[in-house]
Amino acid sequence: MKSKITVTKLFQMKKKGEKIVALTAYDYPFARMVDESGIHVILIGDSLGMVVQGESSTLPVTMDEMIYHTRLVAKAAENAMIIGDMPFMSYQADVKEAIINAGRFIKEAGAAAVKLEGGADVVDTIKAISRASIPVQAHIGLTPQSVHQMGGFKVQRDEERLLNDARKVEEAGAFSVVLEGIPADISQKITEAISIPTIGIGAGPDCDGQILVLHDLLGLHDRHLAKFVKQYTNLGDTARSALKKYVSEVQSGEFPGEEHCY
Ligand code: KIV
Repeated sequence: MKSKITVTKLFQMKKKGEKIVALTAYDYPFARMVDESGIHVILIGDSLGMVVQGESSTLPVTMDEMIYHTRLVAKAAENAMIIGDMPFMSYQADVKEAIINAGRFIKEAGAAAVKLEGGADVVDTIKAISRASIPVQAHIGLTPQSVHQMGGFKVQRDEERLLNDARKVEEAGAFSVVLEGIPADISQKITEAISIPTIGIGAGPDCDGQILVLHDLLGLHDRHLAKFVKQYTNLGDTARSALKKYVSEVQSGEFPGEEHCY
């Protein structure tokens, strides 16, 4: 087994107040860089539907696509814990199907855990997958697979409901919970109220850890960026200018030069 960061380690980090750093990745070369940078958790997010496949939501992503991308990332990661994101309709319809699909992430793709969206409404599924010895990370607040039910990608502010969701997923056996699109003061209360690590995205600074989407952080696409994203660099601009230079050098005859010829 390659992953060195374990569920136990993440619990210890929460206890010691050490921040957990998580990031998404979808392919081998980026996963190598992410792993080498010291990131503790790599999520193969179904966000790949939007940042890799060009879809306008995560809903079209399939189990087979998730398995393919998770395998690429798992091969690359020597230290980070690998979490496979269960796509829309891979766990909602039937608990048995959910266990089978969660198992595919472990058996076929090399993940150490799975993530699924939902709170109190998915406790039976979390219990069943955990009973099959597969660690489950829950995901509450703004859950992108419920985009149509939420009426868009909206910040979630119902404190009572969010606290209840967090407590319920902990009771069901989730080892961690992603808090997405939640006001900072509510995330702080949730983080204090439960003993499993909270990983925030658009949920303020007091979560036990943070996660971002790789392509947002690196500036790899020109979609609108949410308020919570910090773009640390703009690899998109760098790539565009390199590509333009290639076009112009081929057209002008500057490339290939003598040093590129046999
Ligand atoms: O799909 C994803 O990348 C996610 C993270 C943003 C938490 O669910």
